[in-house]
Amino acid sequence: GGSWKLADHPKLPKGKVIALIVLDGWGEAKPDQYNCIHVAETPTMDSLKNGVPDKWRLVRAHGTAVGLPTEDDMGNSEVGHNALGAGRIFAQGAKLVDSALESGKIYKGEGFKYIKEVFETGTLHLIGLLSDGGVHSRLDQVQLLLKGAVEHGAKRIRLHVLTDGRDVLDGSSVKFAETLEEDLAKLREKGVDAQIASGGGRMYVTMDRYENDWSVVKRGWDAQVLGEAPYKFKNAVEAIKTLRAEPKANDQYLPPFVIVDDSGKPVGPIVDGDAVVTFNFRADRMVMAAKAFEYADFDKFDRVRVPKIRYAGMLQYDGELKLPTRYLVDPPEIDRTSGEYLTYNGVRTFACSETVKFGHVTFFWNGNRSGCFNPEMEEYVEIPSDSGISFNVQPKMKALEIAEKARDAILSKKFEQVRVNLPNGDMVGHTGDIEATIVACKAADEAVKMILDTVEQVGGIYVVTADHGNAEDMVKRNKTGQPLLDKSGNIQILTSHTLEPVPIAIGGPGLAPGVRFRKDLPRGGLANVAATMINLHGFEAPADYEPSLIEVVDN
Ligand code: 3PG
Ligand code: CO
Repeated sequence: GGSWKLADHPKLPKGKVIALIVLDGWGEAKPDQYNCIHVAETPTMDSLKNGVPDKWRLVRAHGTAVGLPTEDDMGNSEVGHNALGAGRIFAQGAKLVDSALESGKIYKGEGFKYIKEVFETGTLHLIGLLSDGGVHSRLDQVQLLLKGAVEHGAKRIRLHVLTDGRDVLDGSSVKFAETLEEDLAKLREKGVDAQIASGGGRMYVTMDRYENDWSVVKRGWDAQVLGEAPYKFKNAVEAIKTLRAEPKANDQYLPPFVIVDDSGKPVGPIVDGDAVVTFNFRADRMVMAAKAFEYADFDKFDRVRVPKIRYAGMLQYDGELKLPTRYLVDPPEIDRTSGEYLTYNGVRTFACSETVKFGHVTFFWNGNRSGCFNPEMEEYVEIPSDSGISFNVQPKMKALEIAEKARDAILSKKFEQVRVNLPNGDMVGHTGDIEATIVACKAADEAVKMILDTVEQVGGIYVVTADHGNAEDMVKRNKTGQPLLDKSGNIQILTSHTLEPVPIAIGGPGLAPGVRFRKDLPRGGLANVAATMINLHGFEAPADYEPSLIEVVDN
C-alpha cells in the first residue's frame, strides 16, 4: 500500500556510490586511559573528527532517542540499527513490555491465554537473561511476570536463568540470583512451588545469535529440557558463586548447571504438558532457542526428547518467520524502512558484516525483517566469524575482510549504497580486555581507511557513524566521572555499552559542494541518519521521517 516513490531532492544528484560504515560500539567520550578509542592509533577517525567542522558531529544513541524507556538506558545494537535504518523512533521491546505489564494487557493477550491453559496441570518455565541491563531483558519485568502468572493460576514455576556480565558488571549475577531467590521464597511461603531449575552464562548457554554456534543452544536445551548439565547444585546462588570462583570464570561464560533435589534429581526439566516462556524481549539471541522449542522439523542438534509444550516468547522474535507463533507482547511494527524505500527508488544496496553482526546491518537495519526486499537490487554478504572463542583473543576479527568486501562492492559499480558494520569496538569491548580493545579499535580504523580510500578512488561519498558506545569507556565511574574501585582496590571494568553519543562524519569527492550538517538539530540522534542517507542518494525523505542532518547551501 501507499506510494513508495520518493520525490527528487531539489539539489542533490542521484547515482553516487555511498559507503555507509557503522562502527559497532564506538562512542565519543573524554580522553583518558580507559577510553580505548582515544588510546588506540585511529588516524582515520581522528582525521574525520579534526577535519571540516561542519562535516562531523555527534548524535544521540541511547535512551528515548532510540525508543528506550528512560535516559538511563544505554544504547544497543538492536535499537541503534532499527533507528538508523527506519528513520523514526519506535517504542522498543523494553518499553512495550513495561507498558503491557503495567496496564495488565499482557494477561489479556492471546499468548498469555495460550500458556495459561496448562497452569492447572503443568509447570510454567521461564527462560532468559538474568539482568537489569535492559538490552535483552530486565529482572523487574520477570518479577512482575512471576507475580502476574501466580495471580493468574500458575502453581508450579521453574526458572532457567542465563547470567549476564555483558550488559551489566561482571559478578552482578550473584545479586540478581539472590533477588530472584527471595521472590521465589516468598512465593513458596504462599504455597506456590517455585524454584530456579537451571542456569549458565549467556555466551556459553542458549543465547547464541545468527547461527554462529548451535552448541551454545544445545547446552541450554540439555540443561533446561533434559535436566542434564556438567554441574549439579542444590541452589542457584551457590552454583553461581562456586562456578565463578574457578580461575578466569565470569558471568558471561559460566558453564551450564542444573539444580537438583536431595535425591540428586533435577528439579525442573521441561516435560509434556508444561508451558515455556522465553522472557527476553530482544530477538537476536532468542531466535535460535525459539526454533529449538517450536519447530517440529529441527536438525541443528539432537534434541533427544521433544516435550509437548505450550511455548511463547515475550515478543515475537522474527516477524517474517512468525517465530514464535505465540508471544506475550506485540513487537514494534517497524515499517517503511529506508532500505525498502531505496530499493523501490532504484538504489542498489550491498550490505556486509561478519556473522556476529551480520543480522545487525541487515535484519535490524530493515526493521527486524529477514532477507532482502528485492534480491535483484540487493546483495547481503556474511563473512563467517571465528566461533568458539572470546574476541579478545582475535581482536582484529574480520575487519579487513569486511573492508575488502566493501571495496570490491564499491569498485564493482553495481551498488549505490555499500553498507557495513565493523564489530571490533563492541565485541572486544564486551570482553572487558582493555589491551585487546585497543587493538580492536585500531583494526576498525584501518578498515575504515581502506573503504574511504576506495570511495576517494571512485569519486563517491562516505558516511561514517556508529550504533552506540562501548570501547570509548571501559571503566565503571562515579557521578563525577572517577573510576570506581572494587573491594580489593581494582578498577571495575565496564563490559557493557554506554550512554555516550556517537560520531557521524560525511565526506568524499562525490559529496555535492554546499552540503553540511545543519546547526538546528543539536539533539539529533541515530534516527536522523536515514533521511540524511536518502538525501545523499538524491531523494527527499518521507515526511514522517526524523529530519535529515544535512542542508545544502549555495556557495
Ligand atoms: C549482546 O547481545 O552482545 C549485548 O547484549 C549487546 O550488544 P549489541 O547490542 O552490540 O549486539
Ligand atoms: Co554490544
